[in-house]
Amino acid sequence: MLKQTLLKATEAGARQLLHFFNGQFEISNKEGINNLVTEADHAAEKAIFEVIREDYPEHFILSEETGEIIQDSSYKWIIDPIDGTVNFANGIPICCVSIGIEQDGHMILGAVYNPFMNELFFAQRGFGATLNDKRIHVSKKSSLIKSCLVTGFPYTYLDMENGPLQVFEKLIRKGIPVRRLGSAAIDLCWVAAGRFDGFYEHKLQAWDSAAGFLIVEEAGGKVTDFAGNPYSPYQPHIIATNGQIHDELLKVVNGGNV
Ligand code: IPD
Ligand code: CA
Ligand code: CA
Ligand code: CA
Repeated sequence: MLKQTLLKATEAGARQLLHFFNGQFEISNKEGINNLVTEADHAAEKAIFEVIREDYPEHFILSEETGEIIQDSSYKWIIDPIDGTVNFANGIPICCVSIGIEQDGHMILGAVYNPFMNELFFAQRGFGATLNDKRIHVSKKSSLIKSCLVTGFPYTYLDMENGPLQVFEKLIRKGIPVRRLGSAAIDLCWVAAGRFDGFYEHKLQAWDSAAGFLIVEEAGGKVTDFAGNPYSPYQPHIIATNGQIHDELLKVVNGGNV
């Protein structure tokens, strides 16, 4: 039942993305000039909330544009109505709806849906990860130098020590391909599907990674913070890999060389 509601909510959000994409919609700024929010982000969030409220009116919700709707429940829905808003606003079809569900502080279900590629990634804790109902697995590459990576950059705060620019430069100078798709949730799902061998980012919010990190773990990958501790979406740092290149990438993110 929870799974059905999750999928229904994800689809309801995605319908709003399809509705507004490439059309006319309002765009406004958040903190930083290119940190955008559109009419579609709000419409998708509203559509998702409606589905959840109908089936589970008592559940706790944390969603990017609305914030927290605190309720006394052991279930918490963590929602990014559009992950990849800048792509969306520019007509770039690399964006998705991302929803994770926690029970007593543990992520148990996650769905990430990019309706423009018709790709629905899903995971349930302990039951593996799927792409459009087919099981997916992380890649088997075992060395960082031969890997294909993906990352993202925050809108602000780029000037930290061993920050996103330094880590990126180190990898690129060694000739390692590092892509930048503009949607952390899709980055994670593409690691889960073996398209990328690893992903790292310095400043994510819980809604960016809630569903995606579970999908990577259930596809056989490893997700930690920069200290190598088990991942929590309530701190900013993430490294998600196929497991095999994890320690090597961890070293670089912490200031070491490739
Ligand atoms: C952003 C995307 C991007 C990441 C940013 C996020 P939004 O989310 O996930 O890939 O680099 O840090 O804020 O704003 O498009 O939902
Ligand atoms: Ca996001
Ligand atoms: Ca968003
Ligand atoms: Ca945003």
